[in-house]
Amino acid sequence: MIKKVFGREIIDSRGNPTIEASVITDKGEFVSSVPSGASTGASEMVELRDGGERFMGKGVLSAVENVNNKIGPALINQRTDDPFFIDKKIRELDGTKDKSNLGSNAILSVSMSVFRAAAAEKNLTLYDYLSKNFSFEKRIPRPCFNIVNGGAHSGGGVSFQEFMIVPQKEKFSKNLQEGVEFYHKLKKIITEKYGKSSTNIGDEGGFVPNAKDAKEVLTLLHDINKNLPIIIDVAASEFYSGEKYTVDGVKKDRDEIILMYQEIVDSFSVIGIEDPLYEEDFEGWSELSLRLKDILIVGDDLLTTNIERMKRAKKESSCNAMILKINQIGSISEAILAAKEAKEYGWKIIVSHRSGETCDDFIADFAVGIGSEYIKSGAPVRGERIAKYNRLLKIEDEIINKNNN
Ligand code: PGA
Ligand code: ZN
Repeated sequence: MIKKVFGREIIDSRGNPTIEASVITDKGEFVSSVPSGASTGASEMVELRDGGERFMGKGVLSAVENVNNKIGPALINQRTDDPFFIDKKIRELDGTKDKSNLGSNAILSVSMSVFRAAAAEKNLTLYDYLSKNFSFEKRIPRPCFNIVNGGAHSGGGVSFQEFMIVPQKEKFSKNLQEGVEFYHKLKKIITEKYGKSSTNIGDEGGFVPNAKDAKEVLTLLHDINKNLPIIIDVAASEFYSGEKYTVDGVKKDRDEIILMYQEIVDSFSVIGIEDPLYEEDFEGWSELSLRLKDILIVGDDLLTTNIERMKRAKKESSCNAMILKINQIGSISEAILAAKEAKEYGWKIIVSHRSGETCDDFIADFAVGIGSEYIKSGAPVRGERIAKYNRLLKIEDEIINKNNN
């Protein structure tokens, strides 16, 4: 039974305010905080920000007030055994399609804590609760380490936003080790080639070398290991003008950028491309998917974890994999439904953090609980990134070695 709900304003990894919410039940206090993106998809649910001068307009006191004075009172004395019902109640209270009334940040912070409370009610870990209660086969995802940052996540760098390596070992701990070792080798190579300041890091912990284009970055990665699979997050909407894509200083139309992807895939160990084209160009995505049949074509801004958009992408064969970000859709129950939908389509799922993060490790449990194939949580550095990877180490220890109580 929920006794009390309250929120507070905290600071995220970029130094911007975000919201943390506590839900108190007979089982204890459950605390969760929400992340925030920089290269957001246009169809994401709406975060409530205060505006004005405080925190350059980014304060979230209005969202906190909504948790304290609107959502909280509506949840007092509610049972936590049906968190879908509670999410629905909050959505009805909000009354908008984009969660702009109470704020998707306010709603998600409570939704996460309610799911944690629901798991505790059953004396289960969050991942076990999600898998048992919603019939998913649990699985420890492969990590995608974002080791070179560009685009909106770096102060310079190349146009593509993320270059991720995806180690393929069976055990998560071995994949983490490989990611860390690769990261240090890359640091050494970048220092030798571009000088010490080139090992400064971007928002997600990846390096920002002074490379002229994506192929130069990919060559650096190949110099370390030619066979290690790579996924690129292009985040193409960020450099699309309405007509052309300006990639590393060169203007390209749709056909030209598709040709560029073909060349990249032919020359490098790239197994996936996220947001390769503008987020409303479903048709262009279909063409690319047809051309690059064996490559993961991953929808992030295209889908925004939104079932309506997923249905369209499925119908038009625009992609074969999805990024699942809980704050794009703004409640855990809807994120679960999106995961179910993706599995029905046979799509691969990459559960993802945001570029502005907190040390909350909810998505590690979420990824295991819904059985996602992959997780991306940045480079294997910075507290807010490793919080998720380290939580996965513990989960692996519990599942494989039964090191729990
Ligand atoms: P964001 O970037 O969190 O800044 O939106 C992450 C991504 O595009 O995958
Ligand atoms: Zn993305």
